[in-house]
Amino acid sequence: MASSSLIFLFLLLSFSPLLISSHDDDGDFLRLTDRKLLGLKKEKLGHFKFYWHDIVSGQNPTSVTIVPPTVNSTTAFGLLNMIDNPLTLGPKLSSKLVGRAQGFYASASQSEFALLMVMNFAFIEGKCNGSTITVLGRNPVFNKVREMPVIGGTGVFRFARGYVEARTHWFAPNSRNAIVEYNVYVMHY
Ligand SMILES: *[C@@H]1O[C@H](CO)[C@@H](O)[C@H](O)[C@H]1NC(C)=O
Ligand SMILES: *[C@@H]1O[C@H](CO)[C@@H](O)[C@H](O)[C@H]1NC(C)=O
Repeated sequence: MASSSLIFLFLLLSFSPLLISSHDDDGDFLRLTDRKLLGLKKEKLGHFKFYWHDIVSGQNPTSVTIVPPTVNSTTAFGLLNMIDNPLTLGPKLSSKLVGRAQGFYASASQSEFALLMVMNFAFIEGKCNGSTITVLGRNPVFNKVREMPVIGGTGVFRFARGYVEARTHWFAPNSRNAIVEYNVYVMHY
């Protein structure tokens, strides 16, 4: 009995600095909480489709080159465009506006035309109004389907994760304007 309590005392003393420091550092800073306190119920899978308009030319471009590509690059390597692109329900620009894609894309490959996409979908429609979804991914634009991750969201899309599929609907080689169909699959609460 005496020896076991000695062992216990020894263990307590040898681990106490650890216990104290973990209490001081993490114990008070990171706490577990109940998801119900945040109003989170059941995780759901949502799917929606819209069209992304990359308007590069004309009087009111929504996609503007901020950094030109490096000299002699065949893949426009280094190009950086800032975008505030309309998202519409149908493929026509005149169809219902559901939000905007705000962010940038950059040509990030020296061997093929592949973009790094960094954008927030800022929605204005229905219960999505004011909520956002963040997409960050690789977009080899000449592929038929490009998949990119949804890495987060705000509002109704808090804790969002998922992916998008992008398909070029229309591209004008002269103006370089493009319309891309986006299918979004997103887990959210
Ligand atoms: C671009 O290509 C031209 C013609 O081939 C060459 O003269 C020039 O040095 C190249 N520039 C760079 C930065 O590589
Ligand atoms: C979206 O929210 C804004 C700001 O709260 C509001 O002015 C606007 O009318 C809303 N739009 C729709 C379609 O609900």
